[in-house]
Amino acid sequence: MRTQIAIVGAGPAGLLLSQLLHKGGIDTIVLERRSRTYVEARIRAGVLEPGTVDLLTHAGADGRMRREALIHDGLAIAFGGRIVRVDLKALTGFPVTVYGQTEITQDLIAARLGHGGKLVFEAENVALEGFDGAHPHVSYESGGQTHDIACDFIAGCDGFHGVSRSCVPGSALTLYERELPFGWLGVLSETRPVDDELIYSRNERGFALCSMRSKTRSRYYVQCPISDAVEAWPDDRFWDELRRRIPAGAAERLVTGPSLEKSIAPLRSFVAEPMAFGRLFLAGDAAHIVPPTGAKGLNLAAADAGVLAAGLIAYYRDGDRTGLDTYSETCLKRVWRAERFSWWFTAMTHRFDDDAFGRRLQTAEFDQIMGSRAAATAFAENYVGMFRAG
Ligand code: APR
Ligand code: PHB
Repeated sequence: MRTQIAIVGAGPAGLLLSQLLHKGGIDTIVLERRSRTYVEARIRAGVLEPGTVDLLTHAGADGRMRREALIHDGLAIAFGGRIVRVDLKALTGFPVTVYGQTEITQDLIAARLGHGGKLVFEAENVALEGFDGAHPHVSYESGGQTHDIACDFIAGCDGFHGVSRSCVPGSALTLYERELPFGWLGVLSETRPVDDELIYSRNERGFALCSMRSKTRSRYYVQCPISDAVEAWPDDRFWDELRRRIPAGAAERLVTGPSLEKSIAPLRSFVAEPMAFGRLFLAGDAAHIVPPTGAKGLNLAAADAGVLAAGLIAYYRDGDRTGLDTYSETCLKRVWRAERFSWWFTAMTHRFDDDAFGRRLQTAEFDQIMGSRAAATAFAENYVGMFRAG
């Protein structure tokens, strides 16, 4: 078997890359370890920057999003009885789009299959070889047989726990990492959201977030110890804790219901540099992780796919290698801006045990956003993803 680009992983990064390359006349094969049903059901992020919406549009996978997504002009940050609304649209000219990563994944898979795209689900023991030379290839097992794909380039889009990054010699990568001592417990429920916009709430008991997937489907999170098991959080305990951490008005409006999904995610900051090695390019969570507080993970994955697709299209169309040679550097600028923002927003809104100095700093950060249009604008620019290079 042969293709131009072998893509490992059918998350948003791999699927969007495959679809953008298809639009540019480039052939790909996507290898995914999990089943299609599993990939399409996974509950993940839900806030899209304007740039991500543009990429999905360019990929021709925006039909359902245009019909179903919610456009949010602003969001609220609540802080011990006070609330500031950040008017993203007024401050930056752009709103954000609320639409689930689950739906994006479904839409991209449908788009790929609709165009005859080659997606291999349940591909086992994927192995990347020869990418430090001129003839990379990828092997995998499926239905008890071993297959081999020769290609020009490999895109490692297989997430944080994937195989691609670990194939790069350790001496060629520098890893930057910070783990946080807590996680987010998330619940999805078929209930009316407490508000029309998202509420990020910093509370003495810990952080909480009120988000949504539609006008009838809510997504809520509470900060919890990373050692907690989901079983320790029956629905009633979750709703009681959430109610205690969000502003009084929202707590009164809160409609509870059975959880459709409940999971605990660790919070971590991680970057692997560089994002390219020979003919292998890492994209999305395979190369970097942000804590979810700024909603940047999915948007970074999409941005990487956009930069890589543009570089590959220029290479095949004009023989121009510039985009590929600068891929890592270009992506890492955005990545580090997002790492900084996500770290800062997490530090400002979460409970860190026994840190009285830190708590005072959190208040000062909040006062700054509340009292300064310049500070609110800087926040809004980061949130909508207006990162300029340089
Ligand atoms: N072989 C093939 N596929 C693999 C392998 C492997 N060895 N390991 C992992 N995968 C698959 C996973 O099953 C998953 O479907 O790679 C895919 C990676 O997808 P994501 O984890 O969604 O990563 P990415 O596409 O970079 O998207 C990042 O996802 O985790 C969220 O917050 C994050 O929103 C961000 C987005
Ligand atoms: C979500 O809806 O899942 C969500 C929203 C905003 C975040 C993180 C997650 O910052």
